[in-house]
Amino acid sequence: MQPNAPLIREFSPGRRLRGTWSLRAGALLLSVAACAASWAHGDVTPQAVDTSALPKLGDAWRTENPFRANAAAVRIGSSAYNQNCARCHGLEAISGGIAPDLRKLDNECASLKDAGRRAACVKEIDNHFATTVRRGRTRNGAVYMPPFEEAMNQEAIWSIKAYLETVREKPLQP
Ligand code: HEC
Repeated sequence: MQPNAPLIREFSPGRRLRGTWSLRAGALLLSVAACAASWAHGDVTPQAVDTSALPKLGDAWRTENPFRANAAAVRIGSSAYNQNCARCHGLEAISGGIAPDLRKLDNECASLKDAGRRAACVKEIDNHFATTVRRGRTRNGAVYMPPFEEAMNQEAIWSIKAYLETVREKPLQP
């Protein structure tokens, strides 16, 4: 996303982004700020995700992806990702550097030799994923990532995780 003049003017020094991702480069920093600011100002509407083809999961949030390797969920998740996440995390999950590369999300699990520990690791990442997407990320009053809980149900959020599992940088051994 290209930063544009009105958004930059609204970006006060007090809201300057800090942290791992903001240390990269000034220009990138501004584009994240512009992304976040345009969201906060309602310029970017989250796109509704049609999950009617998937089993209903109910109100209680799962802590582990119930849609792993579910082909319908992967298809829905791919489209939902590209409409809602790609502007910051990159098309097809290939990050341009302004937000974490989500193909690497469970890289640390891939290196575990024990199948039980690997499964536990993936489950932990699932939970971290769902929590982050639901709540977004705000630090020191700066929105790094908007929350999606209002816009998406858990079927949609787990579908996106199912899609991301098909583009892992380090595929997991069964
Ligand atoms: C406005 C830009 C923006 C949008 C849109 C966005 N993100 Fe993010 N996301 C970020 C940034 C920036 C971070 C890093 C936040 C930090 O440093 O705390 C992040 C972090 C994350 C993380 C944590 C990564 C980690 O390594 O811990 C996940 C998971 C994530 N985003 C998933 C998503 C998904 C899924 C979507 C779409 C539903 C999405 N994001 C939409 C900017 C965005």
